[in-house]
Amino acid sequence: MEREMIVVLDFGGQYNQLIARRVRECQVYCEVHPYTIGLDKLKEMNPKGIIFTGGPNSVYTEDAPRCGREVLELGIPVLGICYGSQLMAYLLGAPVETAPVSEYGRTEVQVDTTSALFQDVSPATVCWMSHTDYIAQAPEGFAVTASTPVCPVAAMEQPEKKLYAVQFHPEVMHTAEGQKMLYNFVRGICGCRGDWKMDSFVENTIRSLRERIGDGKVLCALSGGVDSSVAAVLLSRAVGKQLTCVFVDHGLLRKDEGDQVEAVFGPEGPYELNFVRVNAQERYYAKLKGVTEPEQKRKIIGEEFIRVFEEEAKKIGAVDFLVQGTIYPDVIESGLGKSAVIKSHHNVGGLPDVVQFREIIEPLRMLFKDEVRKAGLELGIPEYLVYRQPFPGPGLGVRIVGEITPEKVRIVQEADAIYREEVAKAGADKGLGQYFAALTNMRSVGVMGDERTYDYAVALRAVNTSDFMTAEAAQLPWEVLMKATSRIVNEVKGVNRVLYDCTGKPPATIEFE
Ligand code: XMP
Repeated sequence: MEREMIVVLDFGGQYNQLIARRVRECQVYCEVHPYTIGLDKLKEMNPKGIIFTGGPNSVYTEDAPRCGREVLELGIPVLGICYGSQLMAYLLGAPVETAPVSEYGRTEVQVDTTSALFQDVSPATVCWMSHTDYIAQAPEGFAVTASTPVCPVAAMEQPEKKLYAVQFHPEVMHTAEGQKMLYNFVRGICGCRGDWKMDSFVENTIRSLRERIGDGKVLCALSGGVDSSVAAVLLSRAVGKQLTCVFVDHGLLRKDEGDQVEAVFGPEGPYELNFVRVNAQERYYAKLKGVTEPEQKRKIIGEEFIRVFEEEAKKIGAVDFLVQGTIYPDVIESGLGKSAVIKSHHNVGGLPDVVQFREIIEPLRMLFKDEVRKAGLELGIPEYLVYRQPFPGPGLGVRIVGEITPEKVRIVQEADAIYREEVAKAGADKGLGQYFAALTNMRSVGVMGDERTYDYAVALRAVNTSDFMTAEAAQLPWEVLMKATSRIVNEVKGVNRVLYDCTGKPPATIEFE
């Protein structure tokens, strides 16, 4: 059966991938491509529909991003959004101007519910507007299907030519019935069957990876996090033993984590690949000895990773492809879909400089985190790996204040394991952004049995956050904190106090370094 696809043409807007995601939520595969892609390539992809994104430019300026008018003449349905709607009008010779008043934010829009785009939408519906220009008059032959007091052409269409445009953003959640509109476009106007699921992504990706790689050699830096694990399994399914995964255990992982990763990806695990575990704990501890300054610790951990990996890469020799588990939120919004940054914060920054390879493969580039998780489950990766909380590349190195020693690593590993176990057992982990134990550099007097102690204080942290840029301390149930505290002081040697960090970000950070 022919594969259905919607192409999003990227004109530099900030919601491009969100549009693709919303289309995928209609069970139709969707890819974002730069507006410069060219007519031939576009035809070759044979999309069932094309969506023009928004963008920051004014269509009438000289260097505005524009595609050719021919795109509108392919007979393929087109939906223009915001800048994309203005571009459609402009390409068809209609006037686009600076609006007398800009509209920004939630706006009530009157829509014509007889339009196929607005089927089952309320006649007065709240939409997200964000524009300074507007279409002053619809092109000839177009019907105006929505308006606001400020914006005379908030939507327009020419159904025979399958051209549709909306000034507002149906893809953002503030547009109450936006998903319905996109569904109407994709499933109604474009006539897509909607049989795409995550398993199709997985299958298609495996197939195209196989074609691209041929008999080439592939190298992957595996951290055991969700993204690199899903990327590695996709590659393993595509090319089996042509893939080598290098997993560096820097001695700053959570309790038992190194062994868990090995159990899944190592020779005893279910996947076909070459797995190299480098036990570099001692090397790291030696380099970190006596270092207390947080940024310096981070630098050492990052640099040492590159060195270790370089040594391993040398043993393997030149490879054809280097895999990166970059996911969409890591892709810097170049706005024009042209460039992505290497996931520098994820421990793999700098790798491309020390590994000899031809091309980078980023199979998850188009996905959001929850989509990556779905793909992971589809690939049979164990749930505890798929639903792992984010864990920083420098690991426990950013959860130990002051000098890092093997003893302190042991303390924080054990305390953290107990804490996570108790939070999860009580079901208090639902909705938490991140929760973990950290080791303060404070020792204080305590009493245990009849003995005086002088031991460390462990800090427990739990935050609610949606974007990790800001966060607030979570109000964990007191019983959970008490239970974790009592177990930590009883079971972890070297700890006589447990504190709960009530600070938000800002002014603190989520990590504790
Ligand atoms: P902060 O501590 O800056 O953390 O509030 C925000 C989020 O980023 C994660 N984090 C890192 N992740 N490498 C990573 O992969 C790092 O160096 C790093 N530093 C912080 C942190 O866990 C939190 O989710």
